[in-house]
Amino acid sequence: MSKMIKGFSKFSKTEKVNWLAENFFHDKSSGIDTLKQYYNEDPELQQLHDEFIENTISNFYIPYAIAPNFLINGKTYAIPMAIEESSVVAAASLTAKFWSTRGGFKTKVISTTKTGQVHFTYKGNKDELRDYFSSVKSKLIHSTDHITANMRKRGGGIVDIELRDKTENLADYYQIHVSFLTGDSMGANFINSCLETIAASFQKEGIFIVMSILSNYVPDCLVRAEVTCKVEDFFPENAELYARKFVQAVQIAEVEPYRAVTHNKGIMNGIDAVVLATGNDFRAVAAGAHAYASREGRYKSLTGASVVNGLFNFWIEIPMALGTVGGLTRLHPLAKLSMEILQNPTASELMQIVAVAGLAQNFAALKALTTTGIQQGHMKMHLMNILNQLEANVHEKELIVEAFKGKTVSHSAVAEYLHHMRTGH
Ligand code: MEV
Repeated sequence: MSKMIKGFSKFSKTEKVNWLAENFFHDKSSGIDTLKQYYNEDPELQQLHDEFIENTISNFYIPYAIAPNFLINGKTYAIPMAIEESSVVAAASLTAKFWSTRGGFKTKVISTTKTGQVHFTYKGNKDELRDYFSSVKSKLIHSTDHITANMRKRGGGIVDIELRDKTENLADYYQIHVSFLTGDSMGANFINSCLETIAASFQKEGIFIVMSILSNYVPDCLVRAEVTCKVEDFFPENAELYARKFVQAVQIAEVEPYRAVTHNKGIMNGIDAVVLATGNDFRAVAAGAHAYASREGRYKSLTGASVVNGLFNFWIEIPMALGTVGGLTRLHPLAKLSMEILQNPTASELMQIVAVAGLAQNFAALKALTTTGIQQGHMKMHLMNILNQLEANVHEKELIVEAFKGKTVSHSAVAEYLHHMRTGH
């Protein structure tokens, strides 16, 4: 049977589900029931979600959790996180508490400029192109006035526009490189609309526009977060040793890409979870962060750590384009609620909160890795996932969690134990 389908997007939701059931489900009615279990009972709310994307057939839940007790620049935050990975929120909460008694997190936004580019080719004389660009530069900016009017009122808009010669990298390739300030919006639609308008006004014989698009690389939209404490406050015993090991762990991620990727992945556990919970684009943030980690030509840690004069210092510098207005940030009811929980931050404040979540996550991972090892914490949550997979009831869960304390957790060991509990052999 051919599973190709024409005009699928034009089908009603029921038709889509039926087609899917007909072609892919082993048990049609139980497959359909599973999809329906995740429909919102409020049809209007369901419709809102249906319309976020095309071809929606249900909702895919991931947990929405809170990591409380984050002290950031003297203000306390409870941070919402949307993530499926079991130990992330527990780690964030523990780290928040740890640093709340050691002065908390200090953060600052270093810059907020974003970039977009009109990519084009030109085969003619370079000087002629430069002259043409200079002669139309202000016209290009003004061509976007109708788009930028509101943004300019809020202190944003186009900051600069320049011609870049990239012919050394690719034959005949040039760009119009545009910098933007986008206030409290992430600015993707704003930037892309401006760029397409600029491209339409940039007409000269020999110029061939390839494409116009924002860049998710935002090294000039940068935030820093850090924590500091006396080395002796770092750990109840052998504080100096553990502080040194911690710094070494970061240094390893600075020189060893295999480790750096995992190290930064842990950071993104925290960052993406908050970015997602606030209705922002976590793919954009992740892509930009990893590119930034490679800015010196070698992929390295996004965090740094030092022990100087008896003080332990741990920091992150990371670029990110976030919004607190526009996109899903106010449209998705939970994203809107996240903003409320975060005390309705500006985009700059949200950058700082998100950077803290990344730093906290990395702190938790490195602290575990350089002391007890990572599995102790992971396994507690892993055990719960296994127990849920095995459909253990509350009583069974309690007994098995107790029985596996300090023991190695594996799916087979837990399954065997549960089987034994249920059958006596
Ligand atoms: C797991 O999701 C993240 C860690 O591997 C991060 C790290 O190793 O630093 C624990």
